[in-house]
Amino acid sequence: MRVVVSAKNGTRDFECEPGEKILHAGLRSGVELPYECATGTCGTCKARLTSGRTESQWAEAPGRKYFKSEGDLLTCQSVAHDDCALEVGPLKSHEPNTSAPRALGGVVRGFRRLTHDVVAFDVDIDAPLDFAAGQFALITIPGIPGARAYSMVNFDRGAERLSFVVKKKPGGAVSEWLFGDGVDGARLVLFAPLGHATFHPEVKKHVLCIAGGSGIAGMMSILSLACREGHFAAWDGHVFFGVRTARDGFFLDELDAFRVRSSARLAVTVALSDEDVPASLATAYPGFAFARGFVHAVAGARMQGRYGDVRAYVAGPPPMVDASLRLLLREARLPPADIRYDKFS
Ligand SMILES: Cc1cc2nc3c(=O)[nH]c(=O)nc-3n(C[C@H](O)[C@H](O)[C@H](O)COP(=O)(O)OP(=O)(O)OC[C@H]3O[C@@H](n4cnc5c(N)ncnc54)[C@H](O)[C@@H]3O)c2cc1C
Ligand code: FES
Repeated sequence: MRVVVSAKNGTRDFECEPGEKILHAGLRSGVELPYECATGTCGTCKARLTSGRTESQWAEAPGRKYFKSEGDLLTCQSVAHDDCALEVGPLKSHEPNTSAPRALGGVVRGFRRLTHDVVAFDVDIDAPLDFAAGQFALITIPGIPGARAYSMVNFDRGAERLSFVVKKKPGGAVSEWLFGDGVDGARLVLFAPLGHATFHPEVKKHVLCIAGGSGIAGMMSILSLACREGHFAAWDGHVFFGVRTARDGFFLDELDAFRVRSSARLAVTVALSDEDVPASLATAYPGFAFARGFVHAVAGARMQGRYGDVRAYVAGPPPMVDASLRLLLREARLPPADIRYDKFS
């Protein structure tokens, strides 16, 4: 099927396979359709059908609350049944050094628990994948309706293995599957790479990362590339990692290793929202700063007067991301182009 999309900044067309999501078909063809979550919640991919027939594969998608007329649809949840014409939001400009996403298969390896409610695993993919640090993949588990977005933790050009970290959502379909049996060796379907919260070492700026819980995933990818490229020889890094209590912390050894490699220009602050910082934690990581409070508030207090030449990356639960965006836009007055975020909705 041929899909024609018209936006204020241009008209493009692409081929859509039967059963293929319109968003996936466009992005795979190099058409930079608007999206954020790619999983039906944020409404960013909202479009209006002007001719043809489409069908939503998730009738209850929360992103539908942004609909204004009968022809509205979410391109990330809809398939085309005919040649179609759509009015879409502004087409994005292509992020440098990113590849068009594609569908690929993979097998889960190295499944392990990091805390009582956080797991990590790798996926050996069927063909190498280029992605930018900070991007995510859509993962579909056979038998579970819909895809879930997970940020890559690792960074490699031509990666043959993608690493992920997932925090359990009680009652969540994929969460319950991941915390069950038989995950190692399971075959999955992926669509990757996606996302605009990407780090590019050629952008000469200080790096500010604000992460809540598993939001640290994409930051690990960013820090991995930044350290490899020697970015912190010339630019500062500020990492704020928020968890509830000390037992919820993970990747602390890995963050400390990044800090040690960064000639003292990378500062890591761990914020605990629900308890005072235990002396044992501060003693175990003498190179970190610790504070009690919500991570955006801790970041706001410590970053005061230090926002010049900063590009910020934010990821985690929606309330934490929204609070961080308010801080970065209203108090820090960073330009929107220097604020990259993923809301784990
Ligand atoms: C850009 C982005 C990056 C993310 N990265 C991470 C990460 O690195 N680590 C992490 O722990 N979490 C991440 N998340 C959150 C993650 O995608 C899941 O929402 C979370 O793991 C809960 O999934 P669940 O299946 O357990 O819960 P559920 O409540 O079963 O599902 C959660 C989400 O799955 C989708 N969904 C549910 N049912 C359907 C359906 N019938 N059809 C279609 N879609 C459906 C919806 O998007 C829904 O919000 C990210 C989210 C986004 C948007
Ligand atoms: S991108 Fe489709 S609802 Fe978020």
